[in-house]
Amino acid sequence: MTEHATAQPAGARPRVLSGIQPTADSFHLGNYLGALRNWVAMQDDYETFYTIVDLHAITVPQDPAVLRANTRVSFAQTIAAGVDPQRSAVFVQSHVPEHAQLGWVLMCLTGFGEASRMTQFKDKAGKQGTSAASVGLFTYPILQAADILLYQAAEVPVGEDQRQHLELTRDLAQRFNSRFSETFVVPKAHVLKGAAKVLDFADPTAKMSKSSPGGCIFLLEEPKRISKKIKSAVTDSEAAIRFDPENQPGVSNLLEVLSALSGTPVPELVAGYEGVLYGTLKGDVADAVVALAEPFAARTQELLDDPAELDRIMASGAQRAREVAARTLADVYEAIGFVPPAR
Ligand code: TRP
Repeated sequence: MTEHATAQPAGARPRVLSGIQPTADSFHLGNYLGALRNWVAMQDDYETFYTIVDLHAITVPQDPAVLRANTRVSFAQTIAAGVDPQRSAVFVQSHVPEHAQLGWVLMCLTGFGEASRMTQFKDKAGKQGTSAASVGLFTYPILQAADILLYQAAEVPVGEDQRQHLELTRDLAQRFNSRFSETFVVPKAHVLKGAAKVLDFADPTAKMSKSSPGGCIFLLEEPKRISKKIKSAVTDSEAAIRFDPENQPGVSNLLEVLSALSGTPVPELVAGYEGVLYGTLKGDVADAVVALAEPFAARTQELLDDPAELDRIMASGAQRAREVAARTLADVYEAIGFVPPAR
């Protein structure tokens, strides 16, 4: 079997890449429990690459000053959450030009029909409709494939909603490898089991999302507002604390969040809440979330208050990422028949 020119040496830790969009001025509890916390945990066993995907953030109309601010605050929060820039390459996507370069190559390998089957396009196009949406929004899963394949990532920690994009990524890697030469590691989705899927506190039938701020817990929000939102969480009239996501989604969501934050298994929590009113559970959840959010916000602010240091961390992350990305892109260009520039 041919060696991947860019494969890792035997015995090396498997690589992981994941990305998060800088589209809000604060991460929310769902981002933390669903993604960031796992990014942190994976640093022990994997060689980790984490990126703030600003190229993806321009697939929908955006304000330049807001994007710039959100990118910095997203980067700072990633580190505040525990992603360690010594152990992980953490970088801003646009600092590594190879993403856009490989993205183009992969677009030329993707069928129009194949891209049209990506279900997120219609959802993300939203009310404006698909003909007003940008072509960038349409091709965004292909750029995501480039993000992953550049690093020869073996695993990609993502939520259930990204499964289809991972399938596309695998198809493109296999297609490239068989049409040209063995170049890419074919990655697997590391769909986060046990990662709490946090629901909207005001509407526990929906996933927590920044587009419904009333039921969304932003980690950089005032502790008082966080508490208030949790204490007014929508529950039900059964007045018994049971884990029953089907019939008691609000109470079950509170239990899951508390379990994720405290490490206490849900059944144990339920046993402890026998005969207790919802208010007690809500108070405990509010305390646990504030205990997470307060130091998180303070650490984020500290990083933002020292922009030169933040720039330095960004630059060193980008440099580490480029070392890998540039090698992969050189292999790709060679494999597809581009004439290398004379040196
Ligand atoms: N598409 C992902 C999301 O919307 C973000 C993302 C971009 C990503 N590139 C990635 C995730 C690469 C994993 C790997 O959440």
